[in-house]
Amino acid sequence: MNSEKLFQLDREHVVYSWKNQKDAAPIMMEKADRIYMWDVDGKRYTDFSSGLLNVNIGHNNEHVKKAMREQMEKVCYVGTGFGTEVKAVLSKMISEVTPGDLDYVFYTNGGAEAVENAIKAARAYTGRHKIYSRWRSYHGATAGAITLTGDPRRWAAEPGIPGVVKYFGPYGYNCPFGTENAEESGQKALEMLKTQVMLDGPHTVAAIFMEPIVGTNGIIIPTESYVKGVRELCDEYGILLIADETMSGWGRSGKWFCMEHFGVVPDIMTTAKGVTSGYVPLGCMIWSKKIWEYFWDHPFMGGLTYGGHALACATGIANIEVYKEDKLIENSENLGNYLEKKLLELKEKHPSIGDVRCKGLWACVELTADRKTKAPLAGFNNSIRNVAGPLMKILYDEGLYTFCKWDFIFLSPPLCITREEIDESLEKLEVGLRYTDSLL
Ligand SMILES: Cc1ncc(COP(=O)(O)O)c(C=O)c1O
Repeated sequence: MNSEKLFQLDREHVVYSWKNQKDAAPIMMEKADRIYMWDVDGKRYTDFSSGLLNVNIGHNNEHVKKAMREQMEKVCYVGTGFGTEVKAVLSKMISEVTPGDLDYVFYTNGGAEAVENAIKAARAYTGRHKIYSRWRSYHGATAGAITLTGDPRRWAAEPGIPGVVKYFGPYGYNCPFGTENAEESGQKALEMLKTQVMLDGPHTVAAIFMEPIVGTNGIIIPTESYVKGVRELCDEYGILLIADETMSGWGRSGKWFCMEHFGVVPDIMTTAKGVTSGYVPLGCMIWSKKIWEYFWDHPFMGGLTYGGHALACATGIANIEVYKEDKLIENSENLGNYLEKKLLELKEKHPSIGDVRCKGLWACVELTADRKTKAPLAGFNNSIRNVAGPLMKILYDEGLYTFCKWDFIFLSPPLCITREEIDESLEKLEVGLRYTDSLL
């Protein structure tokens, strides 16, 4: 079907997320391989966003496709009460790469459902109802997960589920407490969180959720002392620490899981995305031993028709094999250092860059109208102007797909990318940066 006809068909029937339907103008994609995608007219785009930060191993991987075909010949799905070899083996493999004693896996279809089930598990385990989550966070679009979310995507879902309390996390570049750097911001954020929990009644708090590094709200990287401090606070009051590693896991930050950077083991972890790199949907809630022991003789009141889907589990196993075989976690760390160096060079050249934050192949360029005052160019929720819209259009024209929002340009290529491919992509990014410079 030619691109015009296909576009028309799409716009007559397909509903797009998070926008007015009249504003949806999707490029019609046909195929993808490694870090590239091609539209139906044959134009090539570099996928510098790994889809929605999920296609970590890259597109069209032969090893994964073979494993999927083989599983499809055996069985795609059996009821969730049955065991399968792929479900048991994947769970063992996950337990080997997650930190500490996070060894017990409950399967979902994606990140939001993992979060929903973690809320249930925390409330049942502690017998308490309050759930803490951060301003400037995203946890998914289902009822509980969107209530936990600390960005404007939550507003339409308010009032949301009861018992959710928001706290400020650290933000070195733009600290809510007016501090000057990441260390001070972390100390102040920890002090405030302790005070908030104390005033709220620690015995009423079931769990504190965190994205170890904040993802879609700007790759905000906390200090080790902050994350360790939150762990200690949780331990002091019997509160569960829940790390939402939906985006930060699976090598994205240069380690298997982001919590490793801080030397902290959460009580529960939620994840999705890179577990199957998006070849089919899969998410997981992973319990530490104490949570598992509690539910040994208490029912866990959660379940989904597609939990532990056999085809998805086989895809997960093959993904982990690829991460290991192709040394993708190491590549993320090494090339992440290279990406950071190159972005810092761009900062020297482009005055509209206010800050560069990078951990593994997971980076954010934060734009500014004025480096001295750190005044934003677009503002929170585009309160000043929409920069991301025109910027993404320029980058698409250059054949570069990367996610931009407000003052943030996110750079998160598949972990199989090479140095040369990073260089080539950053040349394209510079065309966009010349546009943002022109707005100063
Ligand atoms: C930290 C985090 N949690 C949860 C989600 C929701 O995951 P899903 O869209 O698979 O439900 C996302 C999605 O981007 C995320 O980044």
